[in-house]
Amino acid sequence: MELLQIIYTSRATVSLDRKALLNMVAGAGRKNRALGITGLLYCAQEAYLQVLEGDEKAVLILYADILRDDRHDDIRTVVIRPIEARDFANWSMGLLDTMTEPIDLADVLNRGHDRIGVWNSAKWQTIVNTFRAELETVEP
Ligand SMILES: Cc1cc2nc3c(=O)[nH]c(=O)nc-3n(C[C@H](O)[C@H](O)[C@H](O)COP(=O)(O)O)c2cc1C
Repeated sequence: MELLQIIYTSRATVSLDRKALLNMVAGAGRKNRALGITGLLYCAQEAYLQVLEGDEKAVLILYADILRDDRHDDIRTVVIRPIEARDFANWSMGLLDTMTEPIDLADVLNRGHDRIGVWNSAKWQTIVNTFRAELETVEP
């Protein structure tokens, strides 16, 4: 099985309160489990960063659905890369809406040169590792 990881950022078009956000993530988690997809959703300042990983075809099909979701727009695919192992193997969709050291999405987005096609980005791996370490402090 080819494992693919996609990372994108987007802007929320509707501001979801925490309950609505948890609800969406619960639904996403159920569907992701069924599809064998794992990942992270980071939500801050009305913006999202999501990591999706799993079987290449399943991830691309889900991503096509997510791209059409009108709860967000200005979707930027920042990383698409084949991976050897999952970064979020234990999370069907880990949610981070607070961080001890918040990651500034504006800063992440300013890495414009890191958009699509960065197959070996050490920088992106560092960001992913930061998210995973944070997730490990909040959820099993
Ligand atoms: C920021 C954001 C992230 C999302 N992440 C996921 C996800 O990881 N998995 C998922 O199934 N749906 C996710 N969704 C919802 C999908 O866009 C879509 O509504 C859902 O997959 C539809 O599923 P259904 O038609 O099978 O009910 C997300 C939506 C938004 C706005």
